[in-house]
Amino acid sequence: GGPSFKASEVEYRFTAHPKPKPANPDKCKFGKHFTDHMLAVEWDSKNGWGTPTIKPIENISLHPATSVFHYATELFEGMKAYRTEDNRIAMFRPMENMKRMERTARRACLPEFDKEELLKCIGELVRVDQEWVPYSNKASLYLRPTMIGTEPSLGVNMSKSALLYCILCPVGPYFETGSFNPVSLMADPRYLRAAKGGSGAFKLGSNYGPTIRIQEEAARRGCQQVLWLHGEDHQITEVGTMNVFIYWINEDGDHELATMPLDKGIVLPGVTRMSIMDLAESWGEFKITERVLTMADLTKGLKEKRVLEMFGAGTACVICPIEHILYMDQDLFIPTMENGPEVAGRLYRELTDIQFGRVPHDWSHTV
Ligand code: COI
Repeated sequence: GGPSFKASEVEYRFTAHPKPKPANPDKCKFGKHFTDHMLAVEWDSKNGWGTPTIKPIENISLHPATSVFHYATELFEGMKAYRTEDNRIAMFRPMENMKRMERTARRACLPEFDKEELLKCIGELVRVDQEWVPYSNKASLYLRPTMIGTEPSLGVNMSKSALLYCILCPVGPYFETGSFNPVSLMADPRYLRAAKGGSGAFKLGSNYGPTIRIQEEAARRGCQQVLWLHGEDHQITEVGTMNVFIYWINEDGDHELATMPLDKGIVLPGVTRMSIMDLAESWGEFKITERVLTMADLTKGLKEKRVLEMFGAGTACVICPIEHILYMDQDLFIPTMENGPEVAGRLYRELTDIQFGRVPHDWSHTV
């Protein structure tokens, strides 16, 4: 044991029963198919980290009093590995996920670890299951690093033991409507995803569970996703599990790509979010602004035909164009698709070109 586990100490136990791989990875529903192996590392407060193990994916057996079952001491990450044109396997900015995982672990009172070592262990797991990385330019391997508090105790306090693991899923397009089809959103100010001083900026499972009911309501009302509003002035914060961007002509007549700032602590610092801002910044063609925009700003902009595009951004879907917002009693039409979508489309192409290694870039991390 010690302050961190080491990738050089990984123990391997290979499956004797490899599963057949999905015949058509482009049709793989998100999170339904799993590869043959998992990475697991145990931690306890006395001995620190144990030996990282890559082993056949298996059920976890835990006492019914275990911390994670009662108080949701759980965090996760979402990242992807892609098969490149020249048949390498590449992850997209994986150290950004490791950094966020470290921040989330601290917030969740779960143990810290060495980010480089975890990334190397995950790389080893991907190498072991490399044939599961889809041979496709529409599909990828979704990586789900996870950590749970495993102490069998009902005390609401720091878990004295934990389990860090990573599982892998071949995934096609996230939305069943396909990878670049516009969605409609339900924006209902009665519901809140995160609050100032809360945990919304961290990738904790407990941020997501309570949203499912609202997502169900959105579906009942004919919408694919929830637009999360914040505060009395109905600030536009996130969409579904994604960050949200608005490309418009602002009040001063300038073209601007805007997204919610991070300093309020209510939005998740997305890797795709950050990458979109960096790419758009490098074009040097319009303003990129982290600012609060309210539904009033949006409806006024729509009325004055200044809103050009709106889209969600996340690892799972990359970029997701928005076409309708159901807000109070109004059905707001967002002309994203009518406008190309020029910016969303270009961002999507540039991001996926980097992810699939069609364009060399230091964001691409060969496994
Ligand atoms: C994303 O990448 O958009 C996510 O956070 C999806 C995940 C919660 C399923």
